[in-house]
Amino acid sequence: MEQLLTQIEELKKEISAFNGGDAETFRIKYLGTKGLVKSLMGEMKNVAAENKKEAGQLLNEFKLFTESKYEELKGQSTTNGKPQTSNIDLTLPGDPMPLGSRHPISLVKNRMISVFQRLGFAVAEGPEIEDDFHNFTALNLPENHPARDMQDTFYISQNPDWLLRTHTSSVQVREMEKGKLPIRIICPGRVYRNETISARAHCFFHQVEGLYIAENVSFADLKQTLYFFVQEMFGETVKIRFRPSYFPFTEPSAEMDISCLICGGEGCNVCKKTGWVEILGCGMVHPNVLDNCGIDSNKYTGFAFGMGIERITMLKYQIKDLRLFSENDQRFLDQFTGAV
Ligand code: DAH
Repeated sequence: MEQLLTQIEELKKEISAFNGGDAETFRIKYLGTKGLVKSLMGEMKNVAAENKKEAGQLLNEFKLFTESKYEELKGQSTTNGKPQTSNIDLTLPGDPMPLGSRHPISLVKNRMISVFQRLGFAVAEGPEIEDDFHNFTALNLPENHPARDMQDTFYISQNPDWLLRTHTSSVQVREMEKGKLPIRIICPGRVYRNETISARAHCFFHQVEGLYIAENVSFADLKQTLYFFVQEMFGETVKIRFRPSYFPFTEPSAEMDISCLICGGEGCNVCKKTGWVEILGCGMVHPNVLDNCGIDSNKYTGFAFGMGIERITMLKYQIKDLRLFSENDQRFLDQFTGAV
């Protein structure tokens, strides 16, 4: 018994001062199958029967003491500032690095820009807070013109002359005012209208408008430009048709439809059984607009067109609710990871 006690005392001192290596070395030396704790336990058989209980308690306590030292060593991640390799679990999975995605509106906008750039169109941008002249008057919508009601406008309360632009046609005006001809531009950007938000309408959305002004520009140029655009955007089998329409800033004016991408023209719910879906408004620039912007309407002619990016995106990706574009729902946005 006495021998056992001194042995335990000595070992405890040794263990407390242990600095002979990492936790694993310690474990093998003291707690392993051939370790010192095990061999001390083996001494039990030499202890007299009346002392067995006391000796058992002592050994147990010693074992717990050794184990707690082992836990302490395991918890120390470094020794002398160096990583303790046995504490790094190389089998654990790494931290995930999720890939971001471009917003579908940006994807489609960039695609549209690149198609028109190949035809020689440059990108022009302008302010989202506009004045009445650039948004309406210059575009042949003088004050009290009924067509102003076509677009419900947000006005800026401090100044009745200021408003949130209702279309990017205002950028066309700003380009024409610069007076550098010919003009061949597209105007992508955000626009605002006082609409109740629903699956089919929103108080802000995005447009790409186009303008080409030079000598002898014809409606045939307009048709061919837009035909090229839809084929690049939706594929070569898509068909187009023009319907006469009215816009104050163009004469003649038209709306352009494409053959339904879902049913290929057979008739389905998306095209309301007509086989066609409207995608844009266009026309030959009204001479009044050219004059308002200081361009000689006897010398120059031009075409213009305007379309909503949301609409093109909805058709391209078969999205049925406009609100998805502004809700930032990760489940929606993640579907565009890697899309181009
Ligand atoms: N500005 C029109 C709108 O927002 C779209 C439009 C139609 C633009 C015909 C044009 C055009 O340039 O020629 O509804």
